[in-house]
Amino acid sequence: MNDSSIFDCVILPLSKIHNRAGNITIIEGDRNIPFEIKRIYYLYDIPGGASRGGHAHKDLYQLVVAASGAFDVLLDDGRNKKVVTLNRPDYGLMIVPGIWRELMEFSSGAICLVLASNLYSESDYLRNYDEFRSYKTSNDPSAG
Ligand code: TYD
Repeated sequence: MNDSSIFDCVILPLSKIHNRAGNITIIEGDRNIPFEIKRIYYLYDIPGGASRGGHAHKDLYQLVVAASGAFDVLLDDGRNKKVVTLNRPDYGLMIVPGIWRELMEFSSGAICLVLASNLYSESDYLRNYDEFRSYKTSNDPSAG
């Protein structure tokens, strides 16, 4: 999706069932979030000052959740940029295809949970920023 914008990347409130013994948040694919979940991964033990990401995806939808701690997500569609801080396990940031992202400013002990709409595929990545920019300015959605 090469015409997507950072404004398509929205914070989704997630369910939260609260009781004296703690909270539970449930995410069901195609029910609480607008895509089927095919893959889950999480980032943890992230050293202070490290940044992750630095790429875009051509077709992948993702929901990013600060399951613990906090971090910032820089979103860039080639025209506009914004930084979203995630610091609550009951909110998720949906990142649509065609968005360059960088994850940074991880707090100590942060856990970044990612729900993804597809299995891992290196050919879905745009890892070079110039390549990403030409993908976004191309009229052919399959270009890149
Ligand atoms: P990458 O997506 O580049 O990490 P990040 O964006 O968090 O900095 O992935 C890091 C490495 O892990 C890379 O060698 C690819 C591999 N990887 C998989 O094999 N499967 C996966 O589902 C993911 C997300 C990464």
